Amino acid sequence: MKKVYIQTFGCQMNEYDSQQMIQVLSGKGFEETKTPESADLLIINSCSVREKSENKALSQLGRFASLKKSDPSKVLAFGGCVGQTEGPKIKSRFPFLDFVFGTNNYRDLPQMIEPFEKRWETNTEDAQEMDESNFENLIPSFRPLSKAQAFITITNGCDKFCSYCIVPFTRGREISRSPEEILREASQLVQRGAKEIMLLGQNVNSYWGKTSQGAFTSLCQLLELFQRESERGGQLEGLKRLRYTTSHPRDFDENLARAHRDLPVLCEYLHLPFQAGSDLVLRKMRRFYTAKDYLRKMEMVKKYRSDIALSTDVIVGFPGETREDFEATLSILKEVEFDNVYSFKYSIRPYTRSAKWVDDISAQEKGDRIQELLKVQRKIGLKKYQEDIGQTVEVMLEGESKSDSRFWTARTRKNRVVHLPRQSDFELGEFAMARVLNATHSWLLAEVPDKFTSEVAQAS
Ligand code: SAH
Ligand code: SF4
Ligand code: F3S
Repeated sequence: MKKVYIQTFGCQMNEYDSQQMIQVLSGKGFEETKTPESADLLIINSCSVREKSENKALSQLGRFASLKKSDPSKVLAFGGCVGQTEGPKIKSRFPFLDFVFGTNNYRDLPQMIEPFEKRWETNTEDAQEMDESNFENLIPSFRPLSKAQAFITITNGCDKFCSYCIVPFTRGREISRSPEEILREASQLVQRGAKEIMLLGQNVNSYWGKTSQGAFTSLCQLLELFQRESERGGQLEGLKRLRYTTSHPRDFDENLARAHRDLPVLCEYLHLPFQAGSDLVLRKMRRFYTAKDYLRKMEMVKKYRSDIALSTDVIVGFPGETREDFEATLSILKEVEFDNVYSFKYSIRPYTRSAKWVDDISAQEKGDRIQELLKVQRKIGLKKYQEDIGQTVEVMLEGESKSDSRFWTARTRKNRVVHLPRQSDFELGEFAMARVLNATHSWLLAEVPDKFTSEVAQAS
């Protein structure tokens, strides 16, 4: 079998696309490898949301170029959001690249690699066999998942055109997939071992999928469908957790808030980016809500689900952002008390409206504001996470902790990361009731009392 290595940058939609690329390529006799050195085909799935994201993908290209130099049979491809808008420029700037592609044509990868197949002629025999026996879709569908959390893109593209954002240009106009197609994909994922599904889109609130009978389905109705099907005898029996992201404050409505109370499969967690606390900045960002509107929506969510965990995105240093504007952002953090805040320094992006305005907040000032914001948020995060100390919470095991192999990493329904002493009888995707012992601003330390026999426990 030939091997493909994909380096993915950016959001979960790109992660989903990379999984789809592996799926279409498996029909061509490819399997995924975790080491670029062993790959016949190297793919970069790029992100362009900030200049830094774009640069990361380009420096990865440099690293892959040196691998290709030592083994010229490797095929090197560049795709994703940067590929979509800058394809021809990238190709001429990096002549060693074999081909570039975008966000809307990765399904044609099998055709795109055809001109290069000669390079692998010595080891393609088994791949030919795969093609002829028409394994397409069969293998990927029934291969067990490596993680119990899976993604499904339900909307593609974005029609919002926030003034700073390149996404509408990299992903195009918004399209909703049909509920039947989504359900079919979800059911395959559950059969392959998915216990948690995250529904994805740049603005999932505007999901409006059409069934084959021509009926329209809202996001709320889609969530209700997932609830029904996850019950006994349903097509998604075995699915324990459902999440969706990203929401837009303007479109987030009361039905969705109520769903967090009424649908047991839907987790008590919501990511709702507010971007800025100043109404003037929000207007310049073309977000079409005020700070008050946002706070009202947050109150509405908490009315239906008082224990909901919240997270958000914030941009710091938007053109013209004054000290007072920035303080308005801090006020929202203090008032809402998020679990997590993802904060970004404003970065000029091509094609966007705000690219016309002077990026007048210095890099130093943006950095200082981010540091100040993190300081405020760390305190709030700590307070929120400490609420769990002494509680018993349901966790899903996700794998070995990245920083200490004696620990497992797990996640609560509120999306809080939990570290647990490792146990030999734990399995990925397994659920356990864990008692929380301690907390930082971004993770919990817990134990599973019934199984608490690990080496860590004996050593301490
Ligand atoms: N569709 C989602 C996510 C878009 S991209 C949403 O609307 O929330 C993820 C985050 O990147 C955004 O929420 C925003 O905070 C940040 N972002 C987007 N463009 C940016 C830019 N030009 N500079 C800095 N941050 C940006
Ligand atoms: Fe970008 Fe705004 Fe669309 Fe989000 S809603 S992807 S920030 S344009
Ligand atoms: Fe980046 Fe494209 Fe996602 S620009 S954030 S990978 S939609």
